[in-house]
Amino acid sequence: MTVTPTGPGLRHTITLPDRSEHYARGMGALTERLGGRVAFGGDYNPEQWPESVWPEDVALMRQAGVNLVSLGIFSWALLEPGPGQYEFGWLDRIIDLLHEGGIAVDLANASATPPPWFSHRYPQSLLVDQNGGRRSYGGRQGFCPSSPEYRAAAAALTRAIVDRYASHPAVVMWHVHNEYGNHNWSCYCDISAAAFRTWLQRRYADLSEMNDAWGTTFWSQRYYDWPEVLPPRTPAYQTFANPAQQLDFARFSSDELLDCYRAEAALIRDRSPLPVTTNFMGFWKWMDYWRWSQEMDLVSNDHYRIAAMGSAGATHDLAMVADLTRSLADDAPWLLMEHSTSAVNWQPRNPAKAAGQMRRDSLTHVGRGADGALFFQWRASRAGAEKYHSAMLPHAGTGTQRWREVCDLGTDLQSLSAVTGSRTKVDIAIAFDWHAWWGVELDSHPSVAVDQMTAVRRWHRLLWEQGYTCDFVHPDRDLSAYRVVLVPGLYLCTDGAAANLAAFATGGGTVVVGYFSGIVDVDDHIRLGGYPGAFRDLLGVRSEEFSPLLADEGVTLEVASDLSATPRAAGSTWTELIGEVAPDVQVLATFVDRVYPGRPAVTRMAFPAGPAADSESARTAGAAWYLATELNSELLTELLTGACEAAGVSPVIDLPTWPIGFDAMVRQDDRTRYLFAVNHGTAGVPIPCTGTDLLTGKAWAEGTVLPPGQVAVVSSPLIGPA
Ligand code: GAL
Repeated sequence: MTVTPTGPGLRHTITLPDRSEHYARGMGALTERLGGRVAFGGDYNPEQWPESVWPEDVALMRQAGVNLVSLGIFSWALLEPGPGQYEFGWLDRIIDLLHEGGIAVDLANASATPPPWFSHRYPQSLLVDQNGGRRSYGGRQGFCPSSPEYRAAAAALTRAIVDRYASHPAVVMWHVHNEYGNHNWSCYCDISAAAFRTWLQRRYADLSEMNDAWGTTFWSQRYYDWPEVLPPRTPAYQTFANPAQQLDFARFSSDELLDCYRAEAALIRDRSPLPVTTNFMGFWKWMDYWRWSQEMDLVSNDHYRIAAMGSAGATHDLAMVADLTRSLADDAPWLLMEHSTSAVNWQPRNPAKAAGQMRRDSLTHVGRGADGALFFQWRASRAGAEKYHSAMLPHAGTGTQRWREVCDLGTDLQSLSAVTGSRTKVDIAIAFDWHAWWGVELDSHPSVAVDQMTAVRRWHRLLWEQGYTCDFVHPDRDLSAYRVVLVPGLYLCTDGAAANLAAFATGGGTVVVGYFSGIVDVDDHIRLGGYPGAFRDLLGVRSEEFSPLLADEGVTLEVASDLSATPRAAGSTWTELIGEVAPDVQVLATFVDRVYPGRPAVTRMAFPAGPAADSESARTAGAAWYLATELNSELLTELLTGACEAAGVSPVIDLPTWPIGFDAMVRQDDRTRYLFAVNHGTAGVPIPCTGTDLLTGKAWAEGTVLPPGQVAVVSSPLIGPA
């Protein structure tokens, strides 16, 4: 579908990806069942309260505008008080009550935490850590993902729940488990070891191939019989475990929990056509969400502000995680399954949200593609480990600022029904791969300072601070929807990804690659012949040696005027010896001091203009940048925004300078563009567009000032479809 947008801020024709079938089965189906409204509500744990409280809960939910609650997530112990004895009476009653109140239910299959009787009866089902210690019960999610007893009991419970409630009219979707791998991302027990071997036998033709992949000629590690193969039980403080073994174990661990999900989701799908999901945790290191997201009918995510990031850092984190979730959903609308109305309980210090913060946070998620904003949790607990966690209904009750804000948010979200189903079209993607993350953070590397998320977070943040929106993309995926692909860190790179990125640049795209990318292949073997092996031809550079900097060291850079008007800049963390550059490569900065004075620090390879993808969006000439050090923020910002501008990509709206604390994002469908403007800053921001603010229902004139702390969602008609 091609639409021609009008009005300031959108400068080019866009093509929206057609995800209609997937959307219709998942988020679209949910939205339809909610009458076209944005989902609003949260985790509801009625079993923590006397039944006499429940009618008040439902009445207050109605008052707040709640239309969806997640039920039963941690209810296994109550639903199955003994082996195979199911007691559904209380769940029947609360689901009926919610239905009478017009509140829909996201029903869990309750597999997240087995009851004490189960773990007591099957102690072998409890997780074993890397040091061989077996976990006890009394917390949550303490089971071994490979445990046959756990899997059988979870399957039986899933069948019982779905058989009972599949046709209940209140139930509109299924919530499998909860945050897979939050507390049990890997288990090192003997059962897991056997499952790991089975997984390896599927991955490798034979033991010899595995030996080659693991490089076991090193340190006398060669295996001659499958039973010898174990999880990497050697903790790093003793010696270095085999890196490829560690990498495969991370892959196995993500797949093993995904198998649990698949099995439970399949049982549900056999019995019910309703959408199935499990809630993700954003950039959670141990689950490869690119693989997981393929198995979701709709993608859902949990996000919490991390106090230690500071206010601006946490706000950026929210935007970045929402961008990831939208990307995992293939740019279709997604569901914010959990966030908090105010403080959480699990950080060392847990600040509350200031007035207006919750509203800004929730609406930012919607602006970045969520068609629902749910919280953990509805009513604040009185007992248990989460009793100091905020909720929609606080301990102090309804005569509170928090409750009034929750009700106001319910009203806000009701005014945004028109936004549901609309998409976001983004021109910049950040290449991101969980396997590269696992690989780069293995031990015995050149520098502990080089990790995945520092680089990804920094590049995304610098662009976000200038008003650019980024998607995330798996490097093997089709990149043709983008003009710029950033590669802040892709240590491990498949041959396919390398070819994909090269084809993108030679076809007219712009690629920017950060140091220590493209170093190893899928087995964590160095790509020989000079670094960065996967991108040497694309970048036209050949690096001979690394010299990471110490924590307090910097390196001075001489910067070419083509890159910046400021002739000197600083680098940190990393330097390397680029010995040769190809004839088409322009050296835009060089090291002045440290180990490699005079050698290139920033390079740019130019490609001739590629064929236009379609007649309306002629592509610029391609470019491939290489950054051989950690540039200071000013220069990195200049480089990234300059590369985007050269590729014809601009900030979301036209502003003379992007104000500190201002965030803006665009969603659109074939008739309307919705500009979400969120002002976390301290000064008013004039917004260059016209339309109607859906939150107030009032007309929005060109240049109307958005006051500090406020949000506007300006709806403007598009001319379309072309
Ligand atoms: C999530 C979890 C919820 C609750 C919440 C508290 O990780 O899914 O059950 O514990 O954190 O912030």
